[in-house]
Order: sequence, then structure tokens, then C-alpha cells
Amino acid sequence: MEVQNGNQQRPQVVVVMVPLPAQGHLNQLLHLSHLITSYGIPVHYAGSTSHNRQAKVRLNGWDLESLTNIHFHDFELPPFESRPPKDDLSVPFPSHLQPLFEASMHLRKPVYNLMQQLSVKYNRVVVIHDNSMTYVVQDVKLITNGEAYTFIPTCAFYYFVCLWENIPEEEKPFQIDPNDFPECLPSREGCITEDMLEFVINQSKCLGFESGWLYNTSRVIEGRYVELMEKLSSTKTNIKHFALGPFNPLHIKSESGQNRHECLEWLDEQEKSSVIYVSFGSTTSLTDEQTKELANGLEKCGEKFIWVLRRADSNDVFAEADKVRNPQLPAGYEERVKDRGMVVRDWAPQLEILAHPSTGGFMSHCGWNSCMESISMGVPIAAWPMHSDQPRNAFLLSNLLKVGVTVRDWKHRGEVVKSSTIEDAVKTLMASEEGKEIKKRAAELGEAVRGSVAEGGVCCLEREAFIAHISR
Ligand SMILES: *[C@@H]1O[C@H](CO)[C@@H](O)[C@H](O)[C@H]1NC(C)=O
Ligand SMILES: *[C@@H]1O[C@H](CO)[C@@H](O)[C@H](O)[C@H]1NC(C)=O
Repeated sequence: MEVQNGNQQRPQVVVVMVPLPAQGHLNQLLHLSHLITSYGIPVHYAGSTSHNRQAKVRLNGWDLESLTNIHFHDFELPPFESRPPKDDLSVPFPSHLQPLFEASMHLRKPVYNLMQQLSVKYNRVVVIHDNSMTYVVQDVKLITNGEAYTFIPTCAFYYFVCLWENIPEEEKPFQIDPNDFPECLPSREGCITEDMLEFVINQSKCLGFESGWLYNTSRVIEGRYVELMEKLSSTKTNIKHFALGPFNPLHIKSESGQNRHECLEWLDEQEKSSVIYVSFGSTTSLTDEQTKELANGLEKCGEKFIWVLRRADSNDVFAEADKVRNPQLPAGYEERVKDRGMVVRDWAPQLEILAHPSTGGFMSHCGWNSCMESISMGVPIAAWPMHSDQPRNAFLLSNLLKVGVTVRDWKHRGEVVKSSTIEDAVKTLMASEEGKEIKKRAAELGEAVRGSVAEGGVCCLEREAFIAHISR
């Protein structure tokens, strides 16, 4: 592609990344930064000091050297109320992060200054911002050679169905196939807090200046919904939509070495596709009661497992207080399951686990990153959504793509998931005829996704189109 070697003629472009300070989001834009620098375009990553550090420390799958091409801008945030993560939740949305999100709105000024400084040095300043950081980057309108792309941190399916259901019946701009908007969609109730809803609405009100939307998804997975998004937005504007995912490295090398996580060594000893990996991401913790049911469910199901048992991230993952209270397991548990189960209490190398041939399933909260990682590694999901877009992501995986089973039905979100339900779901996925079919479809989809990233594949072409577009 000529962007790589046509350096001299090409107008110089620089990219500014503005992530939301929550793990999944930090990580996303860091991966996208990495992708963009690989085309020789400089990237400036703007965030608070502690969150830039968090993003770097937890980078998984790339080597650290790849970061040297990314310029980190460490900005200070004003002091904000630091709430501990809640353990007991009716709406498990990580509302402890809300004061942090609101404080992040103060990045507007430093981000504007940064855009200004860059705008005199480069022909074009391209700002890529999390769609929850719209307020912070809105002054890109004042930068004559600036243009912005809104990064959608979740799937196009979720985005489309939410936008669509908000349009009153008589105003729907076109008709869609009823199958594209399934009636049994999980409700949005209980997905986020009132405060967060207000925050999100505030952000979306600032939109309208953007030149395009970027998705961390692949047309191979949900091309139908990317097209529906294009169709919907074309009724109002002519912005562009690019499905650039998956951004995670797809060929994970996991060779032995000193730094290799012990759970990978353990996986080496297990049979192919025999282990279920259990992890609920960084934003929620289970209650003690729920932890106990899960422990019992995993013990009773008889399958092998790796269980990442951590508390949710606090506002500052480096603060000492974050390390204190560990979730409790039933007495003697680890000893009893030690032949077939492993409990990991720190940061687990998720991508390497999913890429490992012994991993045959993933019990997940269905954050979109985890969904994409699992899909691209061909690993089927046991879906246990917690909040936000997760119930609908879970629906996409289990009901539409049919690469997963449901553990927690969103209708029963207020209830503890019983060990028997967990046991059944794991057995269905790992040891039944139905599970075999699901595993097979997941493997096929994974292969298709990986193929699409290879040279000439749809995803590769779309990335090149995006790079060519911003460096036009
Ligand atoms: C996209 O999703 C992958 C999982 O496929 C995740 O690891 C990555 O951080 C995400 N990247 C971006 C830019 O959203
Ligand atoms: C939303 O915007 C209004 C008006 O700018 C502001 O007063 C309010 O604090 C914002 N709410 C949130 C949750 O960000």
C-alpha cells in the first residue's frame, strides 16, 4: 500500500487518541494506536498519568518495545471522590468509576492545547476519541486542520438496536427485516445507573462534529449491523463507518520462559479444548454469595477450569487500598479442586489463555473486548452478562451467532445464579452434543475472522481504506 512507502509526497498526518479511563477502553485505544503507528503515522495518547501507566502495564500480547512509537501525554486530573468498588450490587454497573469519568471531562483544555500544538506541525490532526469522551474533544471544531473519529467501544449490533429502538415508530427512516431486530432482545433496564445515563446523554449531545465512526468489530462477525449503521447515518450525514477490528494480535506466541504465567504452564498439561476459562473482566466483583455458588458449580460440573477471581478495579489500580480485600472461597476449596482447577488471583494473560489449544470455553461477562478476543480465537462463550452493553452482546453471541450458551438470563438479573445453573451451562458447553456444535461454529467463525485480517481479507482492506482516508 502506498501509504507505507510514499512518505515524502504524503501530507503529514498525526493522530491523537483520547480514551475513557476504564481498563477495556484504555486497552482498546492503545491497540488501535499500535495499529496506526505500524503504518508510520505518529500517535499521541492523551490521558491521566495513572491511567496511561495502567494502560501500559497491562498491555497484553504486544511487546513493550512497540510502545516507543506512541507519545504518551500524562495530564493531571483534579481531585475527585474516590469510592471503593461496590461488592453488593443490584445494578452491577461500576458506578465507583463515575466520579473519575466526570473528572476526566477536565481534560478538555489540555487536549485542546495538544491538538493546537500538533496542528501547526502537521497537515492534518486526526482525533480518535472514545464515544464517552466526546465532551473532551469537541474543540476539534476550532482546529482548522483537525478532524475527529468517534470510536465505538462495543459491537455494531448493540449500537444499532439501541439507536433503532429510540426512534419513534413513525419516524423510522426505513424498514428492516424483523430478524435484524429480534423481539426477545434483553431489556436495557438495569444496565447502567441513572447518573451514567445522564453522562452518556451529555456526551452524545456534543456529537455532530465527527467525520466518521470506528468500530472494533469485523464485517465477518456482524457485517449486517455495520451496514445498518451506515444506512441509518446516511439518512442524516455522509460520515464514514469503518469496522477495523479485531485489533488484538491474532497469532499469540506462548513459548516457555521465566515470565510465562503459571496458568499457561498448567494449560500445557491439559487435553485439547478441555478447559473452561472463567473471568468477568475488570469492572465488577461477585458478591460473596455468588462467589460461593460459582465455586460450587465449577466443582460439581467436573470439568477443568481456570478461574480468575479478582475484585473490580478501583479508580487507581496502583493504590495500596486496592489490594486489600480478596474474595473468599469455601474452606479447602483450592485443595479439593487442585487436580483440575486453578484459581488465579492476579492479572491473567487472557489472550494467551484463549489462544491456548487446551482452552475450550470462556465463561465471560461479555464485555465486547472479551467477546472479540474469544471469537477471534475460536473459543465459544458461556455468557454471564453484568451491565451496560453486555446483555445484548451476550444475545448476539448466543442467539444470533450461536457461538455461546447462556449462564445468566438477563430476565433474572436480580437473582443469584445458582450452582446448578452454572453446572448445567458448563456441561452443555464442554460436554454435550449441543456444545460440540457450538464449539464447531465458534472455531469456524474464529478462522474466518483471522482470515479477514490477513492480507487481502475484508478487515485488512478496511484498515487500509481508513489509513488511506486519514492520510489522503
Ligand atoms: C478490540 O477488541 C479486541 C478484542 O478483539 C481488544 O483486545 C482490543 O483492545 C480492542 N481494540 C480496540 C481498538 O478497540
Ligand atoms: C451533564 O451536563 C450538565 C450540563 O452541562 C451538567 O450540569 C451535568 O453535571 C452533567 N452530568 C453528568 C453526569 O456528567
